[in-house]
Parts: sequence; C-alpha cells; structure tokens
Amino acid sequence: MAAALTLRGITKSFGPVKVVDDLSLEVEEGQLFTFLGPSGCGKTTTLRMIAGLERPDRGEILLKGRTIASHSKRIHLNPEKRNMGMVFQSYAIWPTMTVFQNVAYPLELRKMSRAVIKEKVRRVLSLVGLEELENRPAPRLSGGQQQRVALARALVYEPEVLLLDEPLSNLDAQLREQMRVELKLLQRRLGITLVYVTHDQLEALSLSDQVVVLSQGRIEQQGTPRHLYEQPQSAFVRDFLGKTIVLEGRVQAIEVRTIQVALTRAPGTPIDCPNHGSLAVRQDIYLSVRPEDIVIAEQDCEKGGNNLKGTIETMLFVGDRSECQVKVGGEKILVYVPRKKLFEAGQAISLHIPRDAVSLWPA
Ligand SMILES: Nc1ncnc2c1ncn2[C@@H]1O[C@H](COP(=O)(O)OP(=O)(O)OP(=O)(O)O)[C@@H](O)[C@H]1O
Ligand SMILES: [Mg+2]
Repeated sequence: MAAALTLRGITKSFGPVKVVDDLSLEVEEGQLFTFLGPSGCGKTTTLRMIAGLERPDRGEILLKGRTIASHSKRIHLNPEKRNMGMVFQSYAIWPTMTVFQNVAYPLELRKMSRAVIKEKVRRVLSLVGLEELENRPAPRLSGGQQQRVALARALVYEPEVLLLDEPLSNLDAQLREQMRVELKLLQRRLGITLVYVTHDQLEALSLSDQVVVLSQGRIEQQGTPRHLYEQPQSAFVRDFLGKTIVLEGRVQAIEVRTIQVALTRAPGTPIDCPNHGSLAVRQDIYLSVRPEDIVIAEQDCEKGGNNLKGTIETMLFVGDRSECQVKVGGEKILVYVPRKKLFEAGQAISLHIPRDAVSLWPA
C-alpha cells in the first residue's frame, strides 16, 4: 500500500538560505506525524510545500502514490486540488461571520447545495463540540472555541490529510492540555492522516505516532516518541526532547556488555554503563542520564553498584515533584524526587544511576 504522503529530497531556499534541505520521509495512512524543531528550522515551509502554497526547488511530493509536486517533472497541483485541510499557525477565522458561516465557507467555495452544507457543517460542529454555538458571531468566542472553529473548517470537506501548524500555540496552558487530548481522540475517531507541526516537545511526545526532529531544514532523527526520548542519536535530539544530566568521564574498562566509567569531577566508584560498542579504554566521554531516572536514597540504604555519595544543596517543590540539586564531588546533579519524599539541605544522600538509563557519548 502506498504511503499517505511521501516526500523525496525536498529542498527549498529563500535567497541564499537553504531553509529545507533534502527532506525525505513517508507518512503512513491514519498516522499522526509530527515535525518537531526549534523556531526557524523550516517546519512551516515544509507544511506549505505539502499544502501546495510553496513550490519545492528540488524533489517531489506524492499523495497516496500520486505525484502532486515535482520540480523535475514540472508538476504542481494547486492547493485546492490536493484534498488537504490546513490550520495555520496564526489561524484566522472570519470575524464578520458566525460559527456556522465560518465552517460552511469552504463548502460554498466548492459550490455544494445548501442542504448538503447544512448537514456537513452540523456534523463537524458536533464533532468538535460546538453544535450549541453555530449562530454565535466569531468574535464572541473564547480562544479555545475559535481554535475549534478553525479545526472544524479544515475538517468539513473531509480532507484526506489534515495539516496543523502549531494549532495550540495561542491557547493557555490548561486549554492546551485539554485540546491536546481532544485532538488525539478526534484523530482516532476519524482515522484521518494528520501532519502536525510544533516546537513543543511535550506536544510532540504526547500526540504523535511518529516524530521527525528537524534542525536547520534537515532531519536529525525520526522515530516513535519513546524511541527518540530513550535512544536519541544526537545531543541535539537528546536535549531538545527533555532535560538531561551530562557528566564528564573517562572509560576505565570495557567488558562484553558493560563499560566502566570514572567520573571526572565525582571520583569514587566507577559507573557501569551498557556497552554499545565504538568506545575505547581511556577515551574521554560524556555520560548522560535523564533526571527522572536517577534514584535518590538516604545514605547507607543503597545496595549494589552505581551509587554516588552526595549532599542535598537545594530542594525545590514544583507541584507534582521536587527538583533536587545534589552536590557530588565537584558536580551538581539535578534529580527529580517524588512529591512525598522529603530531604533537607545539607543532608547526606546517595544517588543510584541505573545502568540501563545511561548513555555514553564521545567527548
Ligand atoms: N517567504 C519567505 N521569504 C524569505 N524567508 C523566509 C520565507 N518564509 C520563511 N523564511 C525563512 O525560512 C526559515 C524557516 O522558516 P519557517 O517559517 O519554515 O520556520 P518554522 O520552523 O516554522 O519556525 P517557527 O517555529 O518560528 O514557526 C526562517 O529563517 C524564515 O525567516
Ligand atoms: Mg512556523
């Protein structure tokens, strides 16, 4: 079966600057596929090329195996012929129209009959939970409701692919969380292919089936959220997806499955790490671990290896957990501690670094 959407070697420059650089990927049908990356990395430009609002300088785009854009074959299907819905970064709903009129507009453009329009608009409004508000003028809606109108308007003509460019960025934190869940439910209910753009790692991780991390117009890594979070292939991906503790060290010994590392600024027992090959004895490395994977315990409670002795410097209560700054030799290590666990500044503790939570990077 052909992929819902295929990009092959897509390249786009504005003036001398290559904004999208040789992008190739496949979006499976029914997937929620996310482009994640910092501001300016080319997310919107890529989405606009998929929508047909921008022409690639090189490469081609296929929709269900059919070429819709190709530089070399001189093919460019106009946006309205691509059967895609799009919600823009600065989604604009028309302020002079009611909710119903806003959502009906794309159907009127397509010259559908009044009866069909009425039925389709009602159906999509109930899908996004706005059926009660169809006669409300657009300016008298909350941010979240406007967001839903934009979504309904993009869904109303039953696109094969829905393109969403940072659709939640104008909402406050609470509403964003709620809409995130609703979007996921909606996508599952409709089984629609969704291409999503965001610079928010939480959004990307929580919503997506597949994520592609972009940096300066190039793919850094692609995979499932869990794969990217747990097995980042570059420091960029690792740090973009979440907090990481990075400690300097040196390889002491290499066994078949395990590498022993001595930490530069926290001398003492060596740390056992998984051996994924490619490192040599006495090589300088960085050891990285996610703060939530480090286990903190009162000193002398620890069993087994991979323990560091330290002292609590600060403990900040942030609601769902505490964030502890722990001094270990010359290192300061951030650890997330469950809410109910209490430590005092100055208290001697021990940190357990689980062997399988560690990854090593050549310095
Ligand atoms: N029409 C244009 N003309 C010239 N430069 C452009 C144009 N559109 C985008 N750019 C530049 O291309 C780069 C990528 O822009 P793009 O809008 O794709 O980034 P983005 O990843 O969507 O960023 P953000 O997260 O801020 O929305 C930026 O440096 C931007 O200034
Ligand atoms: Mg953008």
